[in-house]
Amino acid sequence: MTINIGTRYLGLDLRSPIVASAAPHNGEPVTARLLERAGVGAIVLPSLFEEEILAEEIELSRSLEQGTEHFAEALDYFPAVENFVGAADRYLASLERIKTEVAVPVIASLNASTSGGWVRYARRIEATGADALELNLYHVAADPHRTAANMEAADLELIAAVRASVGIPLAIKVSPYYSAFANFAAAAVSAGADGLVLFNRFYQPDIDLDTLDVVPRLELSQPWEMRLPARWIAILRPQLGPGVSLAATTGVQTGNDVVKGLMVGADVVMMTSALLRDGPEHVRTVEAEMRAWLTDHEYESVEELRGCASAATVEDPSAFERANYMQTLRSWVTPRELNAT
Ligand SMILES: Cc1cc2nc3c(=O)[nH]c(=O)nc-3n(C[C@H](O)[C@H](O)[C@H](O)COP(=O)(O)O)c2cc1C
Repeated sequence: MTINIGTRYLGLDLRSPIVASAAPHNGEPVTARLLERAGVGAIVLPSLFEEEILAEEIELSRSLEQGTEHFAEALDYFPAVENFVGAADRYLASLERIKTEVAVPVIASLNASTSGGWVRYARRIEATGADALELNLYHVAADPHRTAANMEAADLELIAAVRASVGIPLAIKVSPYYSAFANFAAAAVSAGADGLVLFNRFYQPDIDLDTLDVVPRLELSQPWEMRLPARWIAILRPQLGPGVSLAATTGVQTGNDVVKGLMVGADVVMMTSALLRDGPEHVRTVEAEMRAWLTDHEYESVEELRGCASAATVEDPSAFERANYMQTLRSWVTPRELNAT
């Protein structure tokens, strides 16, 4: 039996629902080619960070200021300014190159820090030929003077501003920390998002006990982490309807995880950690596992499977909400009880 694993995401026809989520090497032609050869449906580039652009500009202007103290030498700095290739130029050059290297859709990702920056770089990304744009909303609500409503309004404003500035499909990659997420998700769609990427993974800093410094710690994800995006996709799928794209990201490692993501209603299921651990070739294994499951359970397409376990279709939708909490707590079995059984 031939199984159709094609899917539609952000209005794009993809050959597979397995997508490489934003990761550093996806912007390198060799990795992008390997990912395409292994069978991904699309590639998300790492984010262009406005913070990095601004830091480079500050560094450049500082060196120019130092140069003017030595007038004769200062002249030598001007060619340096002309030839200066900043983070944005490097990003766009990489996007342009990847677009010539692979036929699968290439989704650019943007994390700006100023309202003007979101719009400016979104326009440049569209002009360079990205098939879609993912806005990477990553912030920690640490300011005690800003309310949840205030922070959400700022996010919605920037979604609307980017939507008004570009014509390419727009996905919003969000954190799970919104206090009323179902409401925010619908508002993000009303503001112009074509799809949501659930969820951005927050990396918690650690303390170095020798230096007493706060240090970054990046740990790759574990399979159980997929339950959070799966739960929310199950809840949102019926609320947002089939016209809104949903991508599951975090914790996806195997073909069975992809199957679960599709069952709760995702259009695509994304992977980074598993591909960093096992390399781009891992996509082949994941696709083979997904196909084997579909065959064993007599599904002819990914489309047929999609959403069969969302809140609209399962026998007990509350399993995704409150009741699940109590049952989960009561399901704990002590080692002594386990030995007695
Ligand atoms: C080394 C590394 C770099 C990442 N860079 C980005 C990035 O630039 N932009 C972004 O939106 N997500 C980035 N992510 C997050 C991933 O795209 C993904 O959402 C997250 O790792 C959860 O998926 P996973 O469990 O498959 O790893 C990065 C993750 C890792 C591990």
